Amino acid sequence: MKLANKTVLVTGGSKGIGRACVLAFATEGANVIANYARDEAAAKTVVAEAEKLGVKAIALQADITKSDEVERMFAEISKSFSSIDVLINNAGIFDEDDNPENLSVFEKIFATNFLAQIRVTNHSRKMMKQGKIIFISSVHGTLGHAKPTTVAYSSMKIALDQYMKTLAKELAPDILVNTISPGQTHTPQWGEMSENYMKERAEAHLINRWIEADEIADGAVFLAKNDAVCGEILVIDGGMSLKVLG
Ligand SMILES: NC(=O)c1ccc[n+]([C@@H]2O[C@H](COP(=O)([O-])OP(=O)(O)OC[C@H]3O[C@@H](n4cnc5c(N)ncnc54)[C@H](OP(=O)(O)O)[C@@H]3O)[C@@H](O)[C@H]2O)c1
Repeated sequence: MKLANKTVLVTGGSKGIGRACVLAFATEGANVIANYARDEAAAKTVVAEAEKLGVKAIALQADITKSDEVERMFAEISKSFSSIDVLINNAGIFDEDDNPENLSVFEKIFATNFLAQIRVTNHSRKMMKQGKIIFISSVHGTLGHAKPTTVAYSSMKIALDQYMKTLAKELAPDILVNTISPGQTHTPQWGEMSENYMKERAEAHLINRWIEADEIADGAVFLAKNDAVCGEILVIDGGMSLKVLG
């Protein structure tokens, strides 16, 4: 699939991996919709950068855990675009207090990292005849409950991987559905980090460094262009899985 003039919706497009995806698709000539939850300034900045690349770009606020906000977002999208060609289900959260004793955090992560992905997908499907759906999961879905990942996060990512496969079977051949599973990626998600933590986590990968957000966005562009990959998980983890498995 050629991406020029296609319409790409990126959830959580204001920061980190989502932001890198917005800019990577804009570089390919696609029109981009950057969804965000709270940080309007960051969303406006990425949209301004995308516009400089000569494409149509809009920022749309919607907390994807809230059905009324998601409905409003899709109403806005349909005013400006006749279809969605690529959906990148990227928005997601990580919570330091994620542990089996903390069910309120579990519910929050379930609502954001799993249920909201289905909500956005259901809305998007109504605007997609052909195209691509890409989920951003995590290697910790398959690697399991290991620091710094915790139980709700890992569980919701593996649930997302299973949902992707079911959806891939249902929507092929018109819409191809795939997932990217990143290793630890240098984004605002991690906040301020000590030098020790940066080094320790870099060494968790065979490449001995963190992954950059644009390296994940490269994978998303590949999956969007390719018409033969279907129902797969593209692991971009710098060898973290191999290192963990020993
Ligand atoms: N970074 C990593 O090491 C890593 C590794 C594996 C997988 N991932 C996955 O990659 C995805 C992106 O992570 P990231 O590191 O780029 O995160 P990030 O830097 O924290 O950015 C998160 C983005 O998601 C948006 N967002 C959060 N909650 C939202 C909600 N309820 N509704 C709409 N938007 C929401 C944020 O918008 P606002 O800023 O407006 O709140 C922001 O644009 C996540 O699914 C994450 O699990 C990340």
